[in-house]
Amino acid sequence: MKISILSLFPDFFTSPLNTSILKRAVEKGLVTIQQVDIRDFADNKHRKVDDRPYGGGPGMVMMPEPVQSAIDFVRTNEAHIVYLTPQGKRFDAKMAERLAKKEHLVLLCGHYEGIDQRVIDLNVTEEVSIGDVVLTSGCPAALIVLDALIRFIPGVLGDEFSAYQDSFHTNDGGFDCPQFTRPYDFRGVKVPEVLTQGDHKKISEWRAKEGKAKTLRVRPDLNFEKIL
Ligand code: ADE
Repeated sequence: MKISILSLFPDFFTSPLNTSILKRAVEKGLVTIQQVDIRDFADNKHRKVDDRPYGGGPGMVMMPEPVQSAIDFVRTNEAHIVYLTPQGKRFDAKMAERLAKKEHLVLLCGHYEGIDQRVIDLNVTEEVSIGDVVLTSGCPAALIVLDALIRFIPGVLGDEFSAYQDSFHTNDGGFDCPQFTRPYDFRGVKVPEVLTQGDHKKISEWRAKEGKAKTLRVRPDLNFEKIL
């Protein structure tokens, strides 16, 4: 899989891409990351890529030309172009799984008040939001999308850490269960007895029950009907 990240701050991604699972996925050749600085496509000597919004109002808007040129630079026939914006479809595990199957994913990061609408209408396959909150730019959102989807690329996680055994894929789409490790007694709180007795059927039942109970308590909107 190839992922092109178009932004004004490629440095934002340097440390996460050089850490842990993302780093290993790149090293193993399971994913290729292309970083593109939209400012490199500015057609003026000050490398200016933003201007005031038509109609007035606060902030600046990213000009269409450099964004279009950056998209044209990375575009392939398979390109699935995602624009990160608070006005997009809400990101979730199902979307991460779907995006992980794309041959070429382009993550377009907005800055300031956003990108000129025409360049979005002309190029973008889908608009995605990571939640009902406004971030400083699309970069942290792109990182979240990248991090979440990479877990669904075969070979990135070891089998025992499969993304399909985690929250939102297990327990009817609800939360994963609570986990415990040694010591058995921590500040007087003991590990639930069922986990210490080696009865794997009972352990599975207990884990499913705990995961579902917490989902109902904290996020009844997730899968209420299925759980009941
Ligand atoms: N850019 C700013 N806020 C965002 C959000 N919530 N999701 C995606 N991109 C964003």
